[in-house]
Amino acid sequence: MEIKELANSHRAHVLVLPHNAQGHINPSIQFAKRLASKGLKVTVATTIDIKHNQTEIDSIRVEPICNLDEHVADLYDTNAYLGCVQTVFSRALAECIERHENSGDPFCCLIYDSILPWCLDIAKRFGLFGAPFFTQPCGIGTIFYYVQKGELSVPLEVSTVSLPGLPKFELSDLPSFVSDSVSYPGCLELFSNQFSNLEKVDWVLINTFETLEPELVSWMKGLWPVKTIGPSVPSMYVDKLIKDDKNYGLSFWAPDGATCLKWLDTKPTRSVVYASMGSIAELGLEHMEEMAWGLRRSNNYFLWVVREAEKKKLPSNFIEETIEKGLIMNWCPQLEVLAHEAVGCFVTHCGWNSTVEALSIGVPMVAMPQWADQPTNAKYVEDVWGVGVRAKADEKGIVRREEIELCIREVMEGERGKEIRKNAGKWRELAIEALDVGGSSI
Ligand code: UDX
Repeated sequence: MEIKELANSHRAHVLVLPHNAQGHINPSIQFAKRLASKGLKVTVATTIDIKHNQTEIDSIRVEPICNLDEHVADLYDTNAYLGCVQTVFSRALAECIERHENSGDPFCCLIYDSILPWCLDIAKRFGLFGAPFFTQPCGIGTIFYYVQKGELSVPLEVSTVSLPGLPKFELSDLPSFVSDSVSYPGCLELFSNQFSNLEKVDWVLINTFETLEPELVSWMKGLWPVKTIGPSVPSMYVDKLIKDDKNYGLSFWAPDGATCLKWLDTKPTRSVVYASMGSIAELGLEHMEEMAWGLRRSNNYFLWVVREAEKKKLPSNFIEETIEKGLIMNWCPQLEVLAHEAVGCFVTHCGWNSTVEALSIGVPMVAMPQWADQPTNAKYVEDVWGVGVRAKADEKGIVRREEIELCIREVMEGERGKEIRKNAGKWRELAIEALDVGGSSI
């Protein structure tokens, strides 16, 4: 069955279950909105403490099914997480499906985060279609697929890795769960297990688009019922087919849009460096200091997102001393910032959402990957898509202020910057094409 055909089915109510992290919730909600725009009824099940008792986001329903905060003290403690999530999620998910069945409002399909593969059994137990949603691109998935198949042995005993369809990787280009499997054993298992039961699923949904990774998409389509659905970013930044769709709709932290945009409005075109490390990554004290002075030394305006818990690591008096040039915010409306004409480059940790947002909006990047899939995304940003430069870390894993300054100058002012901007414009066009009427992601 084609996804489109679901819309005509009399039981066309889809349940979407994201993993409870900002970087997974955003693209899942966005895809849910896309489905709703095609006429499907969609409910997103949440497992976080929803602020303001939110029950709707635009055209989709939001239904809290449990609050994982009550079960795990630290959601980023992978062992604790792995230990409890499956039990808690499984029960809450089954109860939710049953509740809807009994109230005459049943689901026909469960779309679940691909790192929760056991959800498929629950879907099948209730006679639903089951589709994992990969929030990361094919390049990342392929690496974990080879680990799961035993074709890439971890811990690695080599210094470079060559795999079919992928660029040649140095260790520092690989997902940290693969290059440093000792530090993250639970995560390696979590991500490799995404491939444990794909032969039984109805669709494999991936937040990428065909022209971005043509060879891998085509190869994956030969193995599984793959559908690329990306870039899963609000429609008004790309195809504009969903009217007024400008935000994901569920943010862990309240963005102060008015302050950011008012400040950006006073700055010349392409004069501002926007910097953010996403929702999870934490810079060490020394690294934070290097980042701060690197931004300052580039001598551009900068808008830097430093989450409240990270603020204490800023050099003393930094905010006061750089007030003429910089604005530091706890959280901002990232898409609106990226789309603002004053922004000339994005210093990013290369979380997949930030990367795909910058690609879709056409913003050049300075890549400063920290962990997880970020090093590999950074490799693609620099070497495959040519939309940025990667700042090199020293032997302590710290990117020094001189390097940050150099990379920003290269992107904002240098010859290479011109080429990067041209490429960024090209990828933006292709991203729009994928989502537009008749595009490969529709
Ligand atoms: C995590 C992982 O770190 C990332 O590597 C993986 O691909 C997804 O899960 P995160 O670190 O939060 O995600 O990064 P990212 O994927 O970039 O997602 C962050 C989201 O928060 C983006 O959608 C971004 O637009 C949003 N954001 C970020 C804001 O809305 N405001 C901000 O100030 C910063």
